[in-house]
Amino acid sequence: MDLKPTEEQGMVRDMCRKFADRSLKPMAAEYDRTHEFPWKHVKKLGEMGMMGVVYPEEYNGAGMDYLTYAIAVEEISRGCASTGTIMSAHNSLCLSPIYYFGTEEQKQTYLPRLTTGEWLGCFAITEPSAGSDASGTRTKAERKNGSYILNGSKTFITNGGVADVAVVMAQTTKIGGNKGLSMFIVPKGTKGFSVGKVEDKLGICASSTTELVFIDCEIPAENLLGQADQGFKIAMHTLDGGRVGIAAQAVGIAQAALDEAARYAKERVQFNKSLAQFQAIQFMIADMATEIEASRLLVWQAATMLNTGDRHKYSQFCAMAKLFASETSHRVTHKALQIFGGYGYVKEFPLERFYRDSRITEIYEGTSEIQRMVISSSVLNAYN
Ligand code: CAA
Repeated sequence: MDLKPTEEQGMVRDMCRKFADRSLKPMAAEYDRTHEFPWKHVKKLGEMGMMGVVYPEEYNGAGMDYLTYAIAVEEISRGCASTGTIMSAHNSLCLSPIYYFGTEEQKQTYLPRLTTGEWLGCFAITEPSAGSDASGTRTKAERKNGSYILNGSKTFITNGGVADVAVVMAQTTKIGGNKGLSMFIVPKGTKGFSVGKVEDKLGICASSTTELVFIDCEIPAENLLGQADQGFKIAMHTLDGGRVGIAAQAVGIAQAALDEAARYAKERVQFNKSLAQFQAIQFMIADMATEIEASRLLVWQAATMLNTGDRHKYSQFCAMAKLFASETSHRVTHKALQIFGGYGYVKEFPLERFYRDSRITEIYEGTSEIQRMVISSSVLNAYN
């Protein structure tokens, strides 16, 4: 594995970093306070090619690799974690299943407008009683003549309130467990499909997280994504890529916290010395920097392996990257806030926002406990 970004990866990193520093960072606190969806910046990301990073140019995508994508998500999240979430859910969770499992007609219909950011996408598998246990899906899709009729509801859906296209998992055959589930493309405006409760969250406040409701929602049978009753595997395949995106987001939040804490430690004087001259603070900075670098390397490794070779191996590395980067982000934002002391606890400084924003990375797209299940299952299988 070459640890040096290619020229193209370096250019994308610099472009996203500049955009994050100049446009996202100055607005992030305001977006957090008002919960305003950052439309202007999401549209700009579309113009930059960052709403369809890994998808081929024939679908208006940027045609880049997953490592470039991870680098971009890190930089964007460093400027604004909410915008990082929006970008990651759109790229990894909505576009990916359409690209990998869609028919040519579905790809032609949806991808060119999603990759440019003209349309936004979401991915809906979670339900009130089916969170970590995604196989507990109760939303039903009943086949009737040339259609499917969807009934049920989804919860905690990132981009739910703003998405033009939803990829939705529903039960098509009553077999139980993870069998008998299918994936569907449901465009906004379909009769019987509406946005329900809008969540008021601890962090990533400018992103939209909502319930989606389906009441006798009729969609043409052509909107089935992939094969019937194979939806669970599509969901798992999709989440592998999603976990790389969230891991990259976690690294971005942690890096932003370290940047602030290191600068502050050098400026802040107590007992006639800068904080940076105290060994207690130096050790915190050392641990933060080391853990961030280790997380970034895991993210890069997972991104490089994604969708190549042994599925169990790359699933394991995607889960390892998500687990380690999200828990690192938690520890780093905690320490950075501690370095700021009282100033870390007030909204005048960004530390308390980083701390709140980082927390979700240990929960969505599979909790840390789920990542440990995926990792241990793959590791133990290797000893069969
Ligand atoms: N890729 C392709 N196929 C996969 C796969 C993957 N990564 N992982 C599993 N599969 C396949 C298996 O090979 C198996 O196939 P066969 O039946 O043919 O053998 C099938 O899927 C079932 O696999 P498992 O027996 O391993 O599945 P399980 O029922 O034991 O569940 C789990 C495993 C890891 C616990 C899974 O339920 C899981 O990941 N749960 C967490 C769900 C999650 O991450 N939810 C987050 C919601 S999305 C979100 O947060 C988005 C948002 O908007 C915020």
